[in-house]
Amino acid sequence: MIRLRFRHRIIQRKGKLAELGYGSPQTLHLMIESMRRGFLDRARYLGDPDFSEIPLARLTSKEYAKKLANDIHMDKASSSLELGMDIINQSECRESEETTHFSVIDKDGMAISNTFTLEGGYGSKVVVSGAGFLLNNEMRDFNKKPGDTNVHGDIGTTANIIAPKKRMLISMAPTFVTRDKRLVLVTGSPGGRTIINTVLSIVLNITEFGMNPRQAVDTPRLHHQWLPDSVYFESDGFPPDTIERLHSMGHAVQYQSRQGDGHTIFVSHDGTACGINDRRSPDSKAAR
Ligand code: DON
Repeated sequence: MIRLRFRHRIIQRKGKLAELGYGSPQTLHLMIESMRRGFLDRARYLGDPDFSEIPLARLTSKEYAKKLANDIHMDKASSSLELGMDIINQSECRESEETTHFSVIDKDGMAISNTFTLEGGYGSKVVVSGAGFLLNNEMRDFNKKPGDTNVHGDIGTTANIIAPKKRMLISMAPTFVTRDKRLVLVTGSPGGRTIINTVLSIVLNITEFGMNPRQAVDTPRLHHQWLPDSVYFESDGFPPDTIERLHSMGHAVQYQSRQGDGHTIFVSHDGTACGINDRRSPDSKAAR
C-alpha cells in the first residue's frame, strides 16, 4: 500500500497519464521508472518495522516523490545499477552455484584434478554423519526412460538405464596429460555434457595448436552432443565468416553465453608450473 501510493505520487509529478494515453511509450516509461524507484526503496528500507526503523513519513511525502520524479528523464531509461549503487554488492566474489573444478600441483609434482558436484542444491540432502559433508545427487545422469531416445537429447538406451546398485554415466572429466611420462597439463571443468568438449578444446589448443596456456583456456569453445543436432558456439567468440561457412555446410548453429570453467595448470619442460584461471568465472584465481 505504501509502495503503491508512493509510485502513484511519482507518476503524478510527471504528468497526467490519461493525457499520455493508455499503453503509450511515455506512459509505460513513467510506470517503469516509478516501479524501479519504488522497488529500490523497498529493498533499501522496507522490512518488519519491529526490527528496523522505516522512514515512512519521508517515503510517503510529496517532497520525496517530487525529488524522485525530477530525476526521471522523459526520453531515457535510468540505470537501476546507478540508482542503487550504495547497496549493491560490487564485489564479484560470489560462490558459484555450479559444479566446481580445481587443478592443483605441489612442489614435488604431485597433482590433483578435481571436479566436484552436488548436482542440485544440497545434493541428495543427506549429510554424512560425523563427517559434515553432503552427498551429491547424480540420479539425473542416468537414462530414465527405456527406449526414449529423442531429438531433444534425452537418451533411453540400455547401457545407462537407471537400475539399483548401478553407477550413472557422468561427463565429469578431470584430466592429466602426460608426454614421455612427464606431466604437462592438469585440467577439467564443470558444465554437464559440455565438460567433455571443454576439456577437448583445452587439450587440443595445447597439444595440436601450440597455444600458450592462457590462450588455450581463453579461446572460444563449442559444443556438439549428437542430439539435439546443433552446434553451440560461445557467442562473440568465432569469426562470423567461419560460422557462416559451417552453416552453409549444413551445421545447425546455436549460441551460448559461455561454456565451462576450465582451470588449468601447464607444466613446462623445466618443471615450472603455470596456473591459468578461467576468466569466464570472474572470481576465479590462480595462486602459487
Ligand atoms: O557428469 C555430469 O554430466 C554432471 N553430473 C556434471 C555436473 C555439472 O557439471 C553441473 N554443472 N555445471
